[in-house]
Amino acid sequence: MCGIVGYVGHQPCGSILIEGLRRLEYRGYDSAGLAIYNGEELVRVRSEGKLANLERAFMAAPVVGTVGIAHTRWATHGRPVEKNAHPHRVGDIVVVHNGIIENYAELRAELIAGGAVFESETDTEVAAQLIAKHRGSFGSLHETVRFAISLIRGSYALVVLDGGNPDEIVAARQASPLVLGLGEGEQFAASDVPAIMAHTRNVIFLMDGDSAILRREGISVFDESGAAVERPVKRIAWDPISAEKQGYKHFMLKEIHEQPARIVDTLRGRIAAGTNMVEIPELNLEPAFLRDIDRIIIIACGTSYHSGMVARYTIESLARVPVELELASEFRYRDPVVTERTLAIAISQSGETADTLAAIREAKRLGAKTAAVCNVMESTIARECGSVIYTQAGPEIGVASTKAFTTQLTALYLFALWLAQHRGLLDDAERRAELVGAFRQIPGMVEQAIALEPQIRAMAKELVHATSCLFLGRGAQFPIALEGALKLKEISYIHAEGYAAGEMKHGPIALIDETLPVVVIAPENGHFEKVMSNVEEVKARGGRLIVVTTAGAHGPERFADHVFVVPKAHPLFESIVTVIPLQLLSYCVADAKGTDVDQPRNLAKSVTVE
Ligand code: AGP
Repeated sequence: MCGIVGYVGHQPCGSILIEGLRRLEYRGYDSAGLAIYNGEELVRVRSEGKLANLERAFMAAPVVGTVGIAHTRWATHGRPVEKNAHPHRVGDIVVVHNGIIENYAELRAELIAGGAVFESETDTEVAAQLIAKHRGSFGSLHETVRFAISLIRGSYALVVLDGGNPDEIVAARQASPLVLGLGEGEQFAASDVPAIMAHTRNVIFLMDGDSAILRREGISVFDESGAAVERPVKRIAWDPISAEKQGYKHFMLKEIHEQPARIVDTLRGRIAAGTNMVEIPELNLEPAFLRDIDRIIIIACGTSYHSGMVARYTIESLARVPVELELASEFRYRDPVVTERTLAIAISQSGETADTLAAIREAKRLGAKTAAVCNVMESTIARECGSVIYTQAGPEIGVASTKAFTTQLTALYLFALWLAQHRGLLDDAERRAELVGAFRQIPGMVEQAIALEPQIRAMAKELVHATSCLFLGRGAQFPIALEGALKLKEISYIHAEGYAAGEMKHGPIALIDETLPVVVIAPENGHFEKVMSNVEEVKARGGRLIVVTTAGAHGPERFADHVFVVPKAHPLFESIVTVIPLQLLSYCVADAKGTDVDQPRNLAKSVTVE
């Protein structure tokens, strides 16, 4: 996913633009660039690879100016080489873009037939060419940009600067996030808040179809029809430091350690003291619908899909509503049965994942009521669903989701309790007190599980040379096995597979030998005895066993090479605790291997392309 930063103000903006891009590195990228007006002309600097390369090129020939735009590119059309890096320039027009112009090929052909000369292989250059071509035909850059985007199909967050009119920048948004920052005599545009929150916490989230003119004296926003519109100014509560590493080696490690606090933040204000009733005011689902609901479809990708898999057990157990899990990228290619009694829940940390957005739109089109579990305020998925439960994880910078996962589970467990209440299944105050009391113990238990870090770090080097790893779990620990495997493979690049422990005998047991590390999640719950028999099967075949179990459990220590003991939580909520050692294991192995933990190769934090 690309990163955009724009500035118009009174400060030399080179460092503002580059620092802003640095705060967006988590989005994944393969080239970067900027363009600044130096008082006489537009100067563009671009480079392949990491931001450090752009910084070196910029320092070799600094450009001083108070208006500019910048970009980190995650290649979608055209190789990750300098000529494809943004900003794209045609004459005095420079453009940065995040998204995909789906009809770029036909537009490109028309423009070339009209004499345009392209320098790149990208879809974005089509936008630059269109704006340059029609630059004189309209009264302003803003109107020219609006005309150009009227010809474009697809998704875009665009920021445009005209060297012939360098006292403003124009921004436009369709299906790719764009946030504007309001300062004193200076204005900002960015793909995401971390890029600008060192300068301002007062932001406007553009809506789809919006465009804006940013001048030193202020920002004007216009809706799809071109009419001036007042978008609310939001105040970002995160402080600039919170998006820094705070002394941790990687954002991922910081975010693992943040989890107890973020779970508390997500719970805050949602459980009434005394009655233990769960309150989620932002869920505007009619009581009649909740009583009549016949099915919940949870739609998500990756780690978010795993949190939905875990939550299914708790929602079905408490609320007695059937829950189905759907991979977002698959949901649309079936002819799914959706009725007006169906609730479709999209789970997405970023709120911008293209597969999940497309799938939830399809569920809505088929008549389902929709709700979202998101971590980014005003994100597209959050705004397009009928209701949203925001997790309070704060900005998750590491590409590997950790605190987003455990705060998603927190939000989903709250939803399960809330739904059970509305279906008259939690009228018993004692039962509510028991469940809520157990829920409130989770942050402290997570804290205790995080304290395993030194023990896990000590053994992690044993896995550094592993070529594959198997994760096993039963019940709600099966998706935890999937999540542990995803974490390990996405940051250490070691192949890993999560499997239902009961499935071992149906094939995977053929893999077991002394070279294969097997991680078994075996909390002492209703499945413990059966899982322990799986542990013995693995041991009997010489497998290297790592077992995650709970305090007081007896048995694993007889077979396992390593046992990680976490506090024993209520079975309906225990997955928030059992996942912690697996997060730490993947982190410590990747750190020992020296991979790029926060920005693993080939990955982006938010996949906004299908
Ligand atoms: C998980 O560690 C990955 N970052 C990835 O699987 C992620 O969960 C997935 O892309 C979904 O992203 P979202 O939650 O922002 O929709």
